[in-house]
Amino acid sequence: MESSIFLKQLAFELVIENKDKFKEHKDSVVLGMGGSHLAADLLGLRVHSDYGLPSDLADKKDILIIAVSYSGNTEETLDGFNLALSKYLPLAVISTGGKLLELARQNNIPYIQLPNIGIQPRETIGFQLKALLKLTGKENELQEIAKLSNDINLDNLELQGRELAEKIKNYIPIIYSSAKNKPLAYFWKIVFNETAKIPAFYNVFSELNHNEIEGFNWNEKTKHLSEKFIFIFLKDNSDNPRIIKRMELTEKIYKNKGFNVHSVILGNKTEISQLLASIYIALATAYSLALIYGSDPQKTDLIDELKTYISQ
Ligand code: F6R
Repeated sequence: MESSIFLKQLAFELVIENKDKFKEHKDSVVLGMGGSHLAADLLGLRVHSDYGLPSDLADKKDILIIAVSYSGNTEETLDGFNLALSKYLPLAVISTGGKLLELARQNNIPYIQLPNIGIQPRETIGFQLKALLKLTGKENELQEIAKLSNDINLDNLELQGRELAEKIKNYIPIIYSSAKNKPLAYFWKIVFNETAKIPAFYNVFSELNHNEIEGFNWNEKTKHLSEKFIFIFLKDNSDNPRIIKRMELTEKIYKNKGFNVHSVILGNKTEISQLLASIYIALATAYSLALIYGSDPQKTDLIDELKTYISQ
């Protein structure tokens, strides 16, 4: 993705339509699949990625249900939206169009229409973060993002991404982070899958120290299974010191077993700037890998093929 598109998202002013019907709620649940729930994960919001609604929400009128679908045509999200509509539960929508936006307009549901600029849902993370912050009344964070659109140095982050891609080339990446940064590790995995079209996995500390670590204790008969993997540690100075120690020790053990381990340091500035910087490095790394492998970073043929079959 071009850096200007990322910056444009950070600077873009989003508007809540049907605002007279909009009421801020203390709690919210986001309905969304794939690239359309990544921003909610990153903001630590509750997410429902399935058909229907979470069972404890059946009759709750004090929780705002935010249906997010970039295309507006995602089956599972529409299913949950329609169920919430039939139960008169408080709703809001974030989408570029499709059936979801049509339904929001028909039923006077508050909505934010995202600009359709021809990029993939996972690349619209800036728009999606801003839309969610707006619907959840997080004005300070919104202002911070707007300010960052002037301050953030994307060239440097892009370079980090290109260099990392060269190291990952020919390996299957496994991304490790603290449990606190799990949504970020998941974001990295997703962009490797969808943009670079490679298998990628993630796990979090300290859980992985109790199981996954042993899976890499290869012997001569299992070495060929392990040797395709490379590890990316997302290191955060504000993590629990015991987690930082576990990361260091795991890195040492893996290196002793002959694995390549690389670190991406999450700077200790503000949470939002740290988040956006890591997101951009992930996008840049995946984009560079797509170019290295000759994959089209924009296309998602298998996702589209599956969607075509399931809608028949
Ligand atoms: C496709 C992609 C997917 C979609 C998901 C849901 O590029 O990123 O993960 O985000 O299939 O579709 P939308 O976002 O249109 O609701």
